[in-house]
Amino acid sequence: MAVDILLGLQWGDEGKGKIVDFLSPKYQVVARFQGGPNAGHTLEFDGIKHVLHQIPSGIFHSNIKNIIGNGVVLDPIVFRKEILSLEKYKIDFSKNLFISKKTQIIIPSHSLLDKAYEKSKGENKIGSTLRGIGPAYQDKIARQGLRVGDIISGDFKARYERLVASHKTILDFYKFEYDLAPLEKDFFEAVDFIKKFNIVDSEYFINESVKNKETILAEGAQGSMLDIDFGSYPFVTSSNTMAAGACTGLGIAPAHVGNVFGIFKAYCTRVGGGPFPTELLDADGDTLRKEGNEFGSTTGRPRRCGWIDLPALKYAIMLNGVTEMLMMKADVLNIFKEIKVCTHYKLGNGSLTDMLPYDLCDENYEPVYKTMKGWNCSLAGISSYEGLPVELSDYINFLESQLNVPITLVSVGPDRTQTIISSKTVLA
Ligand code: GDP
Ligand code: IMO
Ligand code: MG
Repeated sequence: MAVDILLGLQWGDEGKGKIVDFLSPKYQVVARFQGGPNAGHTLEFDGIKHVLHQIPSGIFHSNIKNIIGNGVVLDPIVFRKEILSLEKYKIDFSKNLFISKKTQIIIPSHSLLDKAYEKSKGENKIGSTLRGIGPAYQDKIARQGLRVGDIISGDFKARYERLVASHKTILDFYKFEYDLAPLEKDFFEAVDFIKKFNIVDSEYFINESVKNKETILAEGAQGSMLDIDFGSYPFVTSSNTMAAGACTGLGIAPAHVGNVFGIFKAYCTRVGGGPFPTELLDADGDTLRKEGNEFGSTTGRPRRCGWIDLPALKYAIMLNGVTEMLMMKADVLNIFKEIKVCTHYKLGNGSLTDMLPYDLCDENYEPVYKTMKGWNCSLAGISSYEGLPVELSDYINFLESQLNVPITLVSVGPDRTQTIISSKTVLA
């Protein structure tokens, strides 16, 4: 059985948590392949709203094996908090949560380094979530990171001390003041806490599932435009957020990849710094933020909002081999009489392109929009594609004609039940 991948096509927060939870009953395994506590994946059902940061979004289904993959960077302190916040749901973690031995560990000084680096960048700061993501991946690549499998080894503390010593040198260089002692206390308690969970050789574990023809969904974090190689560099996160990241982040051979579900909002948002071609700094941007409740699930920061960006979506579809697209938050556009779609960028020399410029910060370009009629009515109670207002169908048809990938799911509210699927999907 193939491994399906679900990932964000924009700048994150597309609604991955909602859809992984919605699709979970069709899968036996849900596996997070990258990122860490910079992610905030929101799930809503039965009147409950829950935000997950590192735990896969299949966790509320007792018969699903949830894996935290080797490609993830795990903060033990955040992990412990997340688990404790889930206590009331009586989840049997011994049966449905598995952590890779090869998952890298975020230690408290990683978050301090994140803060020191950001401070030193001044106006050019990335707008990081300051969760220690970049420094933890830096140590992984520098071949000096600590992994979950190390916590049971006798010399874990000594290895930790060596790593912290190198961090202290950098923090001193940046003249960054800190008090590590209370953080270290929390950290070592949390490391002890992790020991009682299933810590596995996840690459064997997942390939056993592949061999047994179990259905597997790989859950991405962030979005393609935040990918370390192909995103709006340097305003990106520090991992491969794309389909290829699922292979390295879980140990799955490319030949096992099946469907790639690309999630996108019916408009666009970005949180943090960096270029955002279709950003609206006017009343329409404020309306999107208000209607979409666009405030970060992890940091609470207001998200920047804008119209949908087809050159960016085409790019993400190309890089990920997207087989189906899932449109989120269509209801947020209910209020608009007119909706705009960025079809091209106009370059400094006057020519039009639907390709992304090399450097979205420096190059001279402006978005070119097509205006479409809005549906301007509520979508409540609609349960099939046939019931969608004609203007929304036109919007979907236009996007499909431009992107050449079917849009097989439309989400019309945050709850699990507010989800409409088309008969064209493999998930029907
Ligand atoms: P993720 O990081 O991709 O999982 O997305 P987030 O959870 O950070 O942000 C998506 C936000 O939109 C959350 O607050 C969701 O509850 C909410 N949401 C998801 N789908 C819909 C939808 O179709 N309509 C509305 N109005 N909200 C939605
Ligand atoms: P989910 O999985 C939206 C952004 C940050 C910052 C940049 C780098 O919920 O979609 P980092 O903390 O990784 O050093 O930040 O990436 N960012 C996200 N934006 N959703 C996320 O995750 C994000 N994770 C990181 O705001 O601009
Ligand atoms: Mg999020």
